Amino acid sequence: MDSFELNKILGAILGTCLVLLVTSFTAGAIFTPVMPQKPGLEIAVKEETAGGAAKEAAPPSEPIEKLLQTASVEKGEAAAKKCQACHTFEKNGPNRVGPNLYGVVGDKKGEGRGFNFSAAMKAKGGTWTDQDLNQFIANPKAFVPGTAMGFAGITKDSERADVIAYLHKLADSPVPLPTAAK
Ligand code: HEC
Repeated sequence: MDSFELNKILGAILGTCLVLLVTSFTAGAIFTPVMPQKPGLEIAVKEETAGGAAKEAAPPSEPIEKLLQTASVEKGEAAAKKCQACHTFEKNGPNRVGPNLYGVVGDKKGEGRGFNFSAAMKAKGGTWTDQDLNQFIANPKAFVPGTAMGFAGITKDSERADVIAYLHKLADSPVPLPTAAK
């Protein structure tokens, strides 16, 4: 074998290598695999809250100050029939399953009224503002988890406002309703 023939063989091998290299490069450039950012499948599972009790109340949609502008004391008094199974509203009225509610607006939560409030209500603290009453009447168990008030709540915004306007009237010196400025 002379050196010329050896050169041809080596050249052929080299050439083949070159072709393979170029092919693999171009193939790589064309068919770049798209790698997922996160490996694995994503499976969306809704988390269940333990117990499934006390559904979180949807936050009252309209501010109560605004709702009270158009609230009706008369309608509130009628709607408050729902409460009368457990509450009386007149001054010095007796406690039933729940406390008498005369003068409750602005009064301390879970105090006085000669009523044995639940630990949850006693611990809540603060006074009964329109905002708090609104949330409590919408969904008692969501606002005061562990409350003894076994009432599902009034879901209708305007009806709650009516009841709160009625509660405002039940006092020796009623707390005035918020003004439109708010
Ligand atoms: C099934 C009986 C029941 C019904 C119906 C009910 N309540 Fe009550 N309510 C209670 C009990 C019991 C408490 C005391 C809660 C506690 O101690 O956790 C309470 C407490 C309250 C308090 C807090 C009083 C305070 O001094 O802290 C307010 C305000 C109130 N209820 C308003 C209402 C209104 C308004 C309605 C009607 C829309 C209503 N409740 C319907 C049983 C009831």
